[in-house]
Amino acid sequence: MIEARGVQKSYPGRPVLRGVDLAVQEGETMAVIGGSGCGKSTFLKCVIGLVRPDSGSITVDGTDITRLTREADVAAYRRRFGYLFQEAALFDSLSVWENVSFGLRYLTSLPPSRFRAIAKDKLALVGLKDVEDLRPSELSGGMKKRVALARAIAAEPSYILYDEPTTGLDPIMSDVINDLILDLQKALNTTAIVVTHDMKSAYKVASRIAMIHEGRVLAADRPEAIKATKDPYVRQFVDGLSQGPIKMKLKEFEPETVEGGAR
Ligand SMILES: Nc1ncnc2c1ncn2[C@@H]1O[C@H](COP(=O)(O)OP(=O)(O)OP(=O)(O)O)[C@@H](O)[C@H]1O
Ligand SMILES: [Mg+2]
Repeated sequence: MIEARGVQKSYPGRPVLRGVDLAVQEGETMAVIGGSGCGKSTFLKCVIGLVRPDSGSITVDGTDITRLTREADVAAYRRRFGYLFQEAALFDSLSVWENVSFGLRYLTSLPPSRFRAIAKDKLALVGLKDVEDLRPSELSGGMKKRVALARAIAAEPSYILYDEPTTGLDPIMSDVINDLILDLQKALNTTAIVVTHDMKSAYKVASRIAMIHEGRVLAADRPEAIKATKDPYVRQFVDGLSQGPIKMKLKEFEPETVEGGAR
């Protein structure tokens, strides 16, 4: 299981996570929702050890990543995870199949002669055919996302962190990806965290949904409970309403009005 306790992280002048507590049980798919910029991606990066929290602990199968200092230990810890980056993060100079199979030589003992066929299989799972030899620059945004997803699942990891798996995909392809997340969970008993803005996807794939607001987990509950919640913050977010207790700070970007001065 993945257990985060009191995770705090600030960037210079900007507190982001102010004490995140979240336990994801074995075989569970936890959706994490919350406003843009609230720290969802930062949290995933803390879990996989790409960002070091200022305080708190993140324990996976008894190993606390925040206490690992040896590079080899961090690498061994990371090997258990598949990670889908929000921005796909493909290598431009490699072909699609080389991108998908990139981790296999570090993560598995499979012979390199099989990598291309494995990549082709995983690409088929995300609905992509005959793209193995293309370069990322020849793909649409949604195709890149799916190639990155194929890479995240290539080694069949026991933990998968998905950062916005359905963003930028059409509604039908989004549902294909939702089904894939569910199938992986069933077939491999994966434990997953799915960061998403897509409430349809959250309701479909998650065993529980956690909402981050102002650096903390505001609520973590089953999808039916979140759907019926009376918490005004969660309600506003899941209903997608501009009016409510959560104030969007668009005003920060408006020019300052000087009293009596010309605008
Ligand atoms: N490397 C960094 N250096 C400085 N600030 C950062 C860095 N990464 C993220 N931030 C800031 O931390 C905050 C949280 O960013 P993060 O990417 O975790 O948000 P998010 O919830 O994933 O947002 P979105 O839904 O838009 O993807 C933002 O204010 C962002 O500007
Ligand atoms: Mg993000």
